[in-house]
Amino acid sequence: MSKETVTITDNRTGKSFECAIKNGTHGQPVIDCQALPKEVGMFTFDPAFMTTASCESAITFIDGDQGILLHRGYPIEQLAENSSYLEVCYLLLYGELPKKGELDQFNAEIKSHTMLHEGLRNVFSGFRRDAHPMAMLLGVVGAMSAYYHDSMDIYNPTHRNLCAMRLIAKLPTIAANSYKYTMGFPYAYPRNDLGYTENFLQMMFSMPSEEYKISPTAAKALETMLILHADHEQNASTSTVRLAGSSQANPFACIAAGIATLWGPAHGGANEAVIKMLDEIKDVKNIPSFLAKVKDKDSATRLMGFGHRVYKNHDPRAKIIRGICHELLNELDTAKTPAFEIALELERIALEDEYFIQRKLYPNVDFYSGIILSALGIPTNMFTVMFAVARTVGWISQWKEMLEEPSMKIGRPRQLYVGAANRNFIPMDKR
Ligand code: ACO
Repeated sequence: MSKETVTITDNRTGKSFECAIKNGTHGQPVIDCQALPKEVGMFTFDPAFMTTASCESAITFIDGDQGILLHRGYPIEQLAENSSYLEVCYLLLYGELPKKGELDQFNAEIKSHTMLHEGLRNVFSGFRRDAHPMAMLLGVVGAMSAYYHDSMDIYNPTHRNLCAMRLIAKLPTIAANSYKYTMGFPYAYPRNDLGYTENFLQMMFSMPSEEYKISPTAAKALETMLILHADHEQNASTSTVRLAGSSQANPFACIAAGIATLWGPAHGGANEAVIKMLDEIKDVKNIPSFLAKVKDKDSATRLMGFGHRVYKNHDPRAKIIRGICHELLNELDTAKTPAFEIALELERIALEDEYFIQRKLYPNVDFYSGIILSALGIPTNMFTVMFAVARTVGWISQWKEMLEEPSMKIGRPRQLYVGAANRNFIPMDKR
């Protein structure tokens, strides 16, 4: 059988080398250039890894041109419509949708890990009162490494699974404690009689002084948000988790590295930028002048929450989350804010405007997610924390997949050195 190949010829020497073409289940094939340095004495040059597939993965597939997002082959629309967040967690971790008994067992196991070790809870008191909640999340997840060293053997599948359970179960508790600490409010312990999302809401908002009623609309909106952000293949934070994991670092340290990467405004901070933009617009009547600024070539202003590096047709998550926005508007008084009104009008005008149509700029998931989180009463500095809670399962599933590959090696990108050539040391008095 003839093997599909690409021929690479070094025109300086005329030497050629055949690189195999590898096909996945979906998506563009890749050129396997692993033997290139040995055969032609060169590396590939690909800053920001724009054209490099760094691994094989069977977890998530994205087709940006078609607006497709699949987890383990299941379209995100079907998962958001029919699954719970924990069902999606099970699917991402183990590859198949759980049967009823499997999901019950998974639920029970997650519930058995929702509490924080009291020592870990005390870590919070070491932070300044005005610390950013992401700083606390990052620190406390990293500190988990100090509490579980008897079950952190990354080559033991039972330990790997236990670490995954602990992370998925404890992230909402750590996130809620970060919020409570910034507010000076008492922490709420987890309540295992509630579902994952309902418990998260009660840990965020309940007070010992009065009964907290969980709104089913709010719980459904948050559950959908968690599902939509659960995984997104090899983005910056996921690649960071994989790279850290390839050094055989413990999974808590790897997830802390992922959280650090997500914190950057170019990654997890876009929904916060949408809310800032809506606050700046202030009133529906200011939309035309704002859009004129966005379209002005000499202005750096962008319509935040519009456009996507990968999705050039539509962001499938945006369509789902838009529906949730409208449900919230109809059912929750807290959603009826001027920002929400501005967002809907902005979206309506922009979708009919030639500038955005021509450039294929559609609302992305972040256009709506900030609005939903605001409507749920979640402050803007907690937005990226909520994203991190949802994405933890994606990170740990990708870490686990990498660890389960027999050929795992430490990740080590190369470079094109452009610094000074060899030179001799100059003594201090001659410089
Ligand atoms: N508002 C106005 N114009 C825009 C926007 C926008 N949001 N996005 C792109 N454009 C314009 C550019 O000015 C450019 O116009 P030109 O061809 O006349 O020069 C054209 O569309 C192409 O833009 P690029 O920057 O090349 O598109 P790219 O794919 O590199 O950018 C990005 C994608 C970074 C997401 C961009 O659309 C953007 O900045 N959007 C706003 C920020 C945002 O919402 N980020 C969240 C992304 S979703 C996520 O991370 C989960």
